[in-house]
Amino acid sequence: MIVLHDKDVNIAAEMLKNSKIVAVPTETVYGLAANALDKNAVSKIFKAKGRPQDNPLIVHIANKSDMFPLISNFPNKANKLIDKFWPGPLTIILPKSDIIPSEVSAGLDTIAIRIPDNQITRELISLARVPLAAPSANRSGRPSPTRLEHVINDMEGRIDAVIDGGNCSIGIESTVISFVGDTPVLLRPGAITIGDIVSTIGDISVNDSVYNKIRGSEKPLSPGMKYKHYSPNAEVVIVNDFKDRYIDFVNLHVGEGDVYALCYEEDLKFIKINALSYGSIHLPDEQARKIFDSLRELDLLGAKIVYARPPLKDGIGLAVYNRLIRAAGFNIINL
Ligand code: TXA
Ligand code: MG
Repeated sequence: MIVLHDKDVNIAAEMLKNSKIVAVPTETVYGLAANALDKNAVSKIFKAKGRPQDNPLIVHIANKSDMFPLISNFPNKANKLIDKFWPGPLTIILPKSDIIPSEVSAGLDTIAIRIPDNQITRELISLARVPLAAPSANRSGRPSPTRLEHVINDMEGRIDAVIDGGNCSIGIESTVISFVGDTPVLLRPGAITIGDIVSTIGDISVNDSVYNKIRGSEKPLSPGMKYKHYSPNAEVVIVNDFKDRYIDFVNLHVGEGDVYALCYEEDLKFIKINALSYGSIHLPDEQARKIFDSLRELDLLGAKIVYARPPLKDGIGLAVYNRLIRAAGFNIINL
């Protein structure tokens, strides 16, 4: 894999036109991009990630007008929402048109679309003159990549290039909302919060998978939600309780070198075992920015068991919570 820089976007655009796959920076996480209209290139994404074939991809465009050839219906509420939040960490699901290959939509009759808020990647899309299908650029099941080295660690030898865009400013993937039924449905929480959405378009429903594990027999609205996700090699356990009880619990493990606490910055001074913070209790944006890097860092530190203090479920905190319960495989202790 070659590492490209912002001045090389034209090289990356040529590669994409020639069915190659290139990891690209976005404001949320790095994506692994291919020409969305090229089945052969899209199938390389699934192979490089080890992604299940039934998990559809998000299509990235540079301008709102690029969306119309890709969709077959455009509700007014979707229009209102994208006018407010694009470019940005918001993905909308709409009925798709015929030009989108079924490889991208994984056989569904809908398509996920967003305009990323990243100058390099928007310029790349404009130069390549095609929509880019791009899931997060991690190996399937691993934490999403928010730094260049995360992409290199997961994808070396498996993809053609990566564009270095520095660290991702948001750090968790986009909010996903479906406009396929009568009421909009939140499928994945992100930096565009439920409050942001409701104040723009009124009531929405929230898919059960945002808070809970999907039962084996259910067919989820968002196929990605049924897979084990975001996991480091270490076993992550969520310890759901007040600060003092969390701290007492983890301190019972003094002397167990491969047990780690994953906690707020403010907790560190009370914790007597190995510990890593994912940000200040007062800074939910920082928690979002650091959560995936922290999960990867725990592996580098050699953690085997991680007791995590979960974030509050307000605002962007809900998105961090949603990722962390999946990283833990829904292993939650209520003390
Ligand atoms: O921020 C992001 O969204 C990043 C960057 C690269 O843009 N991309 C990303 O892609 O997170 P991925 O593939 O890791 O997650 C896409 C999610 C999956 O849960 C997938 O199942 C869901 O969106 N999805 C995609 N197309 C869908 C569709 N037509 N209907 C329902 N869910 C869909
Ligand atoms: Mg992903």
